[in-house]
Amino acid sequence: MSKERIDQSRLPKHIAIIMDGNGRWAKEKGKFRIFGHENGVKAVREVSEGCAELGIECLTLYAFSTENWNRPKIEVNALMTLLVKTIKSETKTLMKNGIKLDAIGVRSNLPKDCRRELEEAIDATKNNTGMTLILALSYSAKWDIVNATKTIAQKALNGEITLEDVDEELIDKTLTTHKYPHPELMIRTSGELRISNFLLWEIAYSELYFTTVLWPDYRKEHLYEAILDFQGRERRFGKTSEQLSS
Ligand code: FPP
Repeated sequence: MSKERIDQSRLPKHIAIIMDGNGRWAKEKGKFRIFGHENGVKAVREVSEGCAELGIECLTLYAFSTENWNRPKIEVNALMTLLVKTIKSETKTLMKNGIKLDAIGVRSNLPKDCRRELEEAIDATKNNTGMTLILALSYSAKWDIVNATKTIAQKALNGEITLEDVDEELIDKTLTTHKYPHPELMIRTSGELRISNFLLWEIAYSELYFTTVLWPDYRKEHLYEAILDFQGRERRFGKTSEQLSS
């Protein structure tokens, strides 16, 4: 599948990916789960590079959910170590490619060193003007919605807003994802057909794309296939086909 078939004038501005299947990939090879995560880093690199080359504005990767804290401690620790190592070693590449790093999720729950590396990389890349790579770390969409609701309720209690001020725009503005357009395309790898608490509000009108490829095997060609599929879809936003063509 070559990149040339992609219509550059109809690219999704924002792609969100649920990177899944690292554990199964490792198991298939008779290895420990962390081996799958380590090999998942290559796919992260490929997809980030592929999106940046195409001119995608934002890429959000679901790297660690709040529910993932319930995994065995040994896996959580190994994942955190891998994240720190990767963020540290990839900052140079992000700079070279003009990629800006950002993160969504409960940062205060991350181990100190992980948080520090993350914040240093976010700060180092903040003036880059190319694609924004957003890592969802210790993220849960329900948490973000609850958090936004509390902020809005507090404003109402303080008399800063009235009930009439509460609308979609205000909720949008209060979520941690407020700086970015809603994803137009959401991809999940590994054959699972679930959203798993990822960007629930923001994907109201996203096109969903599922593939059986396990994340460590995911390459640019797979990304191009997903974008091409997206470009073949009619996005109606509740309207009829006739309304769209007239
Ligand atoms: C899901 O596979 C994957 C994760 C929970 C972690 C994703 C992390 C990486 C790819 C590592 C590095 C990431 C960055 C952004 C530097 P799974 O373990 O749920 O797989 P399974 O469903 O087969 O068990």
